[in-house]
Amino acid sequence: MIVKLTKKNFSLYKTELFTKEQLEHEYQNNPYARYLIYVEDNTIIGYLYYSEIYDRIEINQIEIEVSNRNCGKGLKLLKHLTETVDKSISLEVQENNFPAISIYKKVGFKAKAIRKNYYHGKDGILMVREKQNAFQ
Ligand SMILES: CC(C)(COP(=O)(O)OP(=O)(O)OC[C@H]1O[C@@H](n2cnc3c(N)ncnc32)[C@H](O)[C@@H]1OP(=O)(O)O)[C@@H](O)C(=O)NCCC(=O)NCCS
Repeated sequence: MIVKLTKKNFSLYKTELFTKEQLEHEYQNNPYARYLIYVEDNTIIGYLYYSEIYDRIEINQIEIEVSNRNCGKGLKLLKHLTETVDKSISLEVQENNFPAISIYKKVGFKAKAIRKNYYHGKDGILMVREKQNAFQ
């Protein structure tokens, strides 16, 4: 089940990925922060943390708990965002993060720029998925 995190539901879930204090902090301090939460058996097994800034979205992080990786859950979580939000989306990914780049390409992200040494010696790739106008 994928749900959008709200003030009402975040206390329900146990998670190893981040603490309730971290979630609480985001709500108090970042008006643009949004979380999609992947829940199985009342436990968070993944999240997609993004910022929605007027007409565009920046993906800050996507993470699937280690033992749940490589079975399509990251892609499913990402698709939930791209299929429900009609805005241009950008992100930064390390050049050798192949699982992440794989799922980004599957939903239509394209490499737009290379940021040299962005990650302590590794290049970063700026990827963008343009607004699709799917809801017109
Ligand atoms: C990135 C991440 C969210 C992907 O989640 P996931 O649930 O494992 O993703 P999926 O199972 O949907 O897809 C992973 C794809 O990467 C592929 N993959 C895995 N390891 C790979 C490798 N070394 N080289 C190339 N492809 C690889 C898998 O085969 C799969 O593609 P397929 O479905 O076509 O076979 C997860 O790896 C993660 O949490 N990573 C740590 C956090 C992170 O790096 N986030 C991205 C920051 S930009």
